[in-house]
Amino acid sequence: MATNRTFTMLKPDAVENGHIGAILEKINASGFRIVALKLTQMTTADAQAFYAIHNERPFFNDLVEFMTRGPIVAAILEKENAVEDFRTLIGATNPAEAAEGTIRKLFAASIGENAVHGSDSDENAAIEGAFHFSGREMF
Ligand code: RTP
Ligand code: MG
Repeated sequence: MATNRTFTMLKPDAVENGHIGAILEKINASGFRIVALKLTQMTTADAQAFYAIHNERPFFNDLVEFMTRGPIVAAILEKENAVEDFRTLIGATNPAEAAEGTIRKLFAASIGENAVHGSDSDENAAIEGAFHFSGREMF
């Protein structure tokens, strides 16, 4: 059964380019409630663990290097049908293929540096949220 929470990261490119406020505004305007939020930086071990599902892929090392090169904004978001609706809001992995008005279309430069992460299932949303936040940081 679908739950009502998802997990996101505004990736280092989005933070470097000054897009935190604009992306959070779009998330808010799309009806998501912020349950947890912080500026943080992943270590190499963090990024390797977070994206472990991709560790055999050719882009894995580039992905880990990218995700650790600067701060990110981690957040848990709440909305009915959160996982699917948030994936719709962010758009395709490759911004060149992302629909008009999506966060990746508006703010991402390439398939590797694509501004934002969105959980792909309710199960992963719970795992990823717990990876970044303790219970006391969730509201
Ligand atoms: P995410 O997990 O970050 O929300 O992205 P996604 O589901 O849309 O895409 P996924 O297949 O899970 O890939 C994870 C991240 O790896 C980088 N990537 N680079 N160079 C490439 O071909 C390539 N493919 C994927 C992207 O940062 C992608 O978001
Ligand atoms: Mg993914």
